Amino acid sequence: MQKFYVTIPIYYANGKPSVGHAYTTIAADVLARYHRLLGKDVFFLAGLDENSQKNIEAAQAVGKGDDIQGYLDEMAALWERTFDGLGITHNRFIRTTEADHAKAVVKFWKAVEAKGDIYQGEYEGLYCKGCEAFYSEADLVDGKCPLHLTVPAHIKEKNYFFKLTKYRDALLEHIGKHPEFIQPSSRRNEIVSYIEKFMTDTSISRSTMKWGIPVPGDESQRVYVWFDALINYLTGVGYGTDEANFKKWWPANLHLVGKDIIKFHCAIWPAMLMSAGIPLPERVFAHGFFTVDGQKMSKSLGNVVDPVDIATKYSNDVLRFFLMREIRFGEDGDYSSKRLEERYNGDLANELGNLVHRVITMAEKYFDSKVPAKADGFLAGAWPAYQSAMEEVRLYDALEIAWSLVRQSNQFIDEKRPWELAKLKEDKMLSDSIYVLLETLRHIAWMLLPLMPDTAEKIFTKLGLEVSKELGQSQASAWVWGELAPGATLVKGEPLFPRREV
Ligand code: MSP
Repeated sequence: MQKFYVTIPIYYANGKPSVGHAYTTIAADVLARYHRLLGKDVFFLAGLDENSQKNIEAAQAVGKGDDIQGYLDEMAALWERTFDGLGITHNRFIRTTEADHAKAVVKFWKAVEAKGDIYQGEYEGLYCKGCEAFYSEADLVDGKCPLHLTVPAHIKEKNYFFKLTKYRDALLEHIGKHPEFIQPSSRRNEIVSYIEKFMTDTSISRSTMKWGIPVPGDESQRVYVWFDALINYLTGVGYGTDEANFKKWWPANLHLVGKDIIKFHCAIWPAMLMSAGIPLPERVFAHGFFTVDGQKMSKSLGNVVDPVDIATKYSNDVLRFFLMREIRFGEDGDYSSKRLEERYNGDLANELGNLVHRVITMAEKYFDSKVPAKADGFLAGAWPAYQSAMEEVRLYDALEIAWSLVRQSNQFIDEKRPWELAKLKEDKMLSDSIYVLLETLRHIAWMLLPLMPDTAEKIFTKLGLEVSKELGQSQASAWVWGELAPGATLVKGEPLFPRREV
């Protein structure tokens, strides 16, 4: 059986999930669900980055400085609960304070050390606590971290270093030979320029940290949080603890990340793997960042959007829909509650919801709520286009393909005017039109399954299909035209997306 192993960043545990974290997580969930529908064995890893200075400060800020593990346990429970509530189908929720992860990090460190790629040196330079990253002057904007807009600390300490520059040529060669390794291609160019011009050896330990995984053989130092965090992708599938499982899943098929952390995922991480003698992941896809009402989302501005608030006000599917539909995956975008309301009433209530309601109401009226005889439809190349969009992580396009069927169906109704066909007693034309519309709805539901799973299931139910039976089908038969059986009883039920008064 083919496998698909997808990961998302393990997020810092110093606050609750924002809609930014939900974005990457939902995108990966869409892909995990899609690949499961293809019949693949899927492993979707999510989790928390717990060995960060930021987490310790957050614990201290709420008076839990003497029980950091307790604080992390609470945060992990909160994140996991949130993901579950949002309908995320991850297979493991990994925490970097777990015992198997410490084992994996030690094993990995020793492999890199045995390769002769770790040396002791003195680090003197800039460190942004927000990013947990070492910076050069050239990285800064007006002397500040471009992401956190704070002045980084000047630090000077004895550290262990990783010979990153030793892998410069090998990295460039790999990226050159595998254009799919870093996507979209704009990110690839960014990374190539970084590797060619700016990459230096990197510090992989901290002497001032009291929290985190001790450096093997030198308890006075802790493993630098990014070196430790990246290894979670190996730990998650058994590296260092369950070799058979590790062999089954590694290399990962896809690391999904935000564009803020590509240096770590597309340069440092592959070099670390090369050093440890482990195959590289197939692909790293970096999506863009979105602002909120045109402003950077930040705690200090107080404009952090809580995904749970949106899911509660609307639904999980509306949140998924909006994030995938409003921002072209891979590009930057903006989140605004006004746009969300417009998209709800426009795309969801008027276009999709109304279509489903109209079609089923007509079938009720003209065919006593029974599916009429089969007829040919207008899917054309929708499935191949949808499939390549999903394969290439163009999630916006995948949704757009489903939506073009929605719009075509609405247009089809306006052109065929079934109510006039009924008056004119054009029985065959009427029956064909209604079948085409119902069967197209089934295809739309199948396309929506990974993107808006609850909505897709509701459409199945309205079409008189049994959800479990439908899902038990192979994609090969489900995607074929004409699967909706004549005579089946439709169930009108409630409208999918009742209009909301603005
Ligand atoms: N702990 C590291 C990741 C380690 S992975 C081995 C980290 N954590 S984080 O909590 O800061 O999460 C960053 C990620 O959150 C981004 O890469 C992105 O996936 C997501 N996003 C956070 N805010 C976002 C936006 N405003 N827009 C889009 N994605 C956002 O970095």
